[in-house]
Amino acid sequence: MIDTYGREITYLRLSVTELCNLRCRYCMPEDGVCKKRHEDMLTQEEMVTAVRAAAALGIRKLRITGGEPLVKANIVGLCRDAAAVEGIREVCLTTNGTLLPKLAQQLRDAGVKRLNISLDTLNEEKFRYITRIGSLQDALNGLETALACGFEKIKINSVLIGGFNDNEIPELADLTRRYPVDVRFIELMPMYDSGDFGPEAFIPYTTVTERLPELIPMPADGGVAKLYRLPDAFGNVGLISPVSAHFCAECNRIRLTADGKLKPCLHSSDEISLKGLDYDGMLETMRSAILAKPKWHGELSYRERSHANRNMNQIGG
Ligand code: GTP
Ligand code: 5AD
Ligand code: SF4
Repeated sequence: MIDTYGREITYLRLSVTELCNLRCRYCMPEDGVCKKRHEDMLTQEEMVTAVRAAAALGIRKLRITGGEPLVKANIVGLCRDAAAVEGIREVCLTTNGTLLPKLAQQLRDAGVKRLNISLDTLNEEKFRYITRIGSLQDALNGLETALACGFEKIKINSVLIGGFNDNEIPELADLTRRYPVDVRFIELMPMYDSGDFGPEAFIPYTTVTERLPELIPMPADGGVAKLYRLPDAFGNVGLISPVSAHFCAECNRIRLTADGKLKPCLHSSDEISLKGLDYDGMLETMRSAILAKPKWHGELSYRERSHANRNMNQIGG
């Protein structure tokens, strides 16, 4: 379906849970999430109905997000059902990777085509610091398992944080030489209540090209990242610049939260509920949500925080 500004909306990001087994400082508060009432969240059946409605409106790509999608009960069954929906060409999933040793093969067999794995540092102590409770070894084990399971492409997401991991840019980018993966550096987005980062933490994507002058520009692939490659690398280095160079004009996505709210834009507080609707109700509501998609999200910076009124774990990135 084409929105009011001529953008073709083909990509649904479905957050299946707000819960997570980590507590990344830029994503969620230390004490976790205040658990919502079970009956306020979408059921698995409602999620699949929403995917069917989305597919009928022209959604071709589905990305399962969270929180951490792999903490959700029966995530494998949900992926299988979603992958079977007519019109959905690819089901992808974004994960922190720590539960992949147990689930990667089952997800692949269920029809998940691609995985994006979050990894901000290669230092065990820093990993513990940024995730508050996680273990780097678990994430690396997850990556290794996933690599052995035949996913079409694995991308590593590193949130760029000045004073935290900017000194690791070469080492993180070098993962594209060690493994057949892309590594994407994402500018830190100032969410509602995410972390106590000062202005120095918000560094632009150009920091990466400055630190790695050997990067060779590559043709774009239709995603949000500007692509480069290190000489002799297997995969690309991607730069995602939601803050310093937003990509709203090419935005092809809508979002659905675990509590059933359609979000036409990541950084807007506008939400339209699907909870409790049947297929026809969802179809019409989704159509109006696409038509309500704003042209862009307005200024975003250290001072001008996101208007989303939710933390990232309650949206799904
Ligand atoms: P691909 O399907 O592999 O292209 O993945 P993706 O980049 O669409 O998804 P992923 O979940 O890996 O997200 C990577 C980063 O991009 C996250 O930090 C997201 O929050 C951010 N991101 C994705 N879509 C948007 C968007 O529409 N607007 C903004 N501002 N950020 C986005
Ligand atoms: N800014 C940028 N990226 C973020 N993510 C979570 N919170 C933020 C934020 N505030 C990333 C995660 C994950 C992806 C879905 O979103 O690291 O890779
Ligand atoms: Fe969990 Fe991902 Fe948020 Fe980290 S960024 S707390 S892994 S949902």
